[in-house]
Amino acid sequence: PRSKVLITRGDIPSAGLSLLQEQCDLIVWNETTPIPRSELLSKIVDVDGVFCLLTDKIDEEILSAAGSQLKVIATMSVGLDHLDLNAIKSRNIHVGYTPDILTDATSELAVALLLSTSRRIIEAEHALRAGKWTSWSPLWMCGPGLAGSTVGIVGLGRIGTRVAEYLKPFRVEKILYTSRNEKAAAKTFNGIRVSLNDLLSQSDFIIVTIAMTPETRGMFDRDAFKKMKKNAIFINVSRGEIVDQFALIEALKSKSIRAAGLDVMTPEPIPLDHELLKLDNCVLLPHIGSASTEVREKMAIMTANNILAVINGKPESMPASLNL
Ligand code: GLV
Ligand code: GLV
Repeated sequence: PRSKVLITRGDIPSAGLSLLQEQCDLIVWNETTPIPRSELLSKIVDVDGVFCLLTDKIDEEILSAAGSQLKVIATMSVGLDHLDLNAIKSRNIHVGYTPDILTDATSELAVALLLSTSRRIIEAEHALRAGKWTSWSPLWMCGPGLAGSTVGIVGLGRIGTRVAEYLKPFRVEKILYTSRNEKAAAKTFNGIRVSLNDLLSQSDFIIVTIAMTPETRGMFDRDAFKKMKKNAIFINVSRGEIVDQFALIEALKSKSIRAAGLDVMTPEPIPLDHELLKLDNCVLLPHIGSASTEVREKMAIMTANNILAVINGKPESMPASLNL
């Protein structure tokens, strides 16, 4: 019999979908909004594989609803914080994800967010449309440039490394990073490994690319924002939960830091009456780090191939599996 695969969204790039269609029976949540938990609980019951997104929380309760035939969960994301990895491991289920192929796109967006925030691009464009451009003015819409600055990258993984490489041609003076160990890749941009405290107190721009885990949840708290320079700009392209958002809002309101650029926040989507939306010194994007057309297509294909490898009895040939 053909294997059954649950797909938790209706608008998956078709290249990934058709790969699965050739070999499996698909159960698709055919909407462009996240599958409700009750639907996930009932639809996972008899499937062999799950194609999910970062909006789907897969925990003990969901896994208990699945049958013992469930062999693979493949997420169309590099982040894994929505998956309870211990619960998955205890059931010997394979986990697929999509590293590397989204590194360029996400790093590019981090740089875009940094430039938009420091050079006040979004704020300035809104001012123009609102008729506030009265004349060329020496002090209007000024912000710090990148040349000569110190950039701190929190978590020098694939994305952090690429961001550093992209920033080098902007003539930043120093790139600091935190990481569990010295990274050979940092040589290419003369990156200096420092403690988090040193990074926070010395950086003009702080860019967060570290993965969200129980250890990094809430790591940017009141204390962390207090250690930053008064002109610091804070960029987050990882997960909103890495930040104590109340502490960030307080820092932005009191101008104890200069500005923030966020591709991730809590909750997502952010309600339109949220405090963050009232701040001029904050650029907010709707979690679009990997949103390049080509990249999203590759992510769908990789996710499909992660599932097919396991279903065909060759988990060792998964394009990207997590070693649990
Ligand atoms: C995006 O946030 C991802 O994890 O792929
Ligand atoms: C994090 O997942 C990274 O790729 O840096």
